[in-house]
Amino acid sequence: MKRIIVMSAACLVFAIAACKVEKPGEVESAFVKSVKKTITIGGKDLKNPVAFSDEAVKTGGGHFQHHCQICHGLDGHATGVPFAAQMDPPVPDLSDPDVQGYTDGQIKWIMENGIAPSGMPSFKGILDDDEMWDIVHYIRHLPPKGSLGAPDVYNEEKEEHEKMQMGGKPGEKSAKPEKKDAHQHGSEHKH
Ligand code: HEC
Repeated sequence: MKRIIVMSAACLVFAIAACKVEKPGEVESAFVKSVKKTITIGGKDLKNPVAFSDEAVKTGGGHFQHHCQICHGLDGHATGVPFAAQMDPPVPDLSDPDVQGYTDGQIKWIMENGIAPSGMPSFKGILDDDEMWDIVHYIRHLPPKGSLGAPDVYNEEKEEHEKMQMGGKPGEKSAKPEKKDAHQHGSEHKH
């Protein structure tokens, strides 16, 4: 009896594991997508109260590049984000028709609520309404893929190292660490 229980437990674990590695079929994911668009993601009928302007896109871009770049890249196409494709589900290119197919209200809803249980976090309490609506304008007018390079944090380690050793940004003066306080006044040493 005990053995049967152990065996069926093992089967169950195996079944769950097998389920996890299997990618959902085309039909299923199309179905899941349509459920997501019509039911799961709210805010469908909300209109963007912030009027479109270049300024709004720019402001939204600033917020995006502060809060979202770590996963979505500076340009929203996940440029230079090393783990984007490894996440499950992967970080999408926000210019993708699947994303652009959401209404403005739904894109804001996604920011507000996040998408559990994926890696897309909720920004409720972090961004206010107007900031989110500005970001919606930015997402509708993303710069070309790759045009802004990779987020600084992912730039080559070597470059970061050099910057840190210089004690500031390259080209800034007084970049060298100040050593004289510690060691130059030999006469002060009493032996
Ligand atoms: C910690 C990483 C992370 C951060 C930070 C992040 N996202 Fe996401 N985002 C994801 C992942 C992962 C997905 C894919 C979720 C899914 O398909 O279920 C996603 C999906 C999205 C989608 C598309 C959802 C869909 O159903 O296709 C939008 C729009 C989006 N994010 C906007 C933003 C905005 C705007 C910000 C900043 C305010 C942001 N994200 C910050 C990881 C992140």
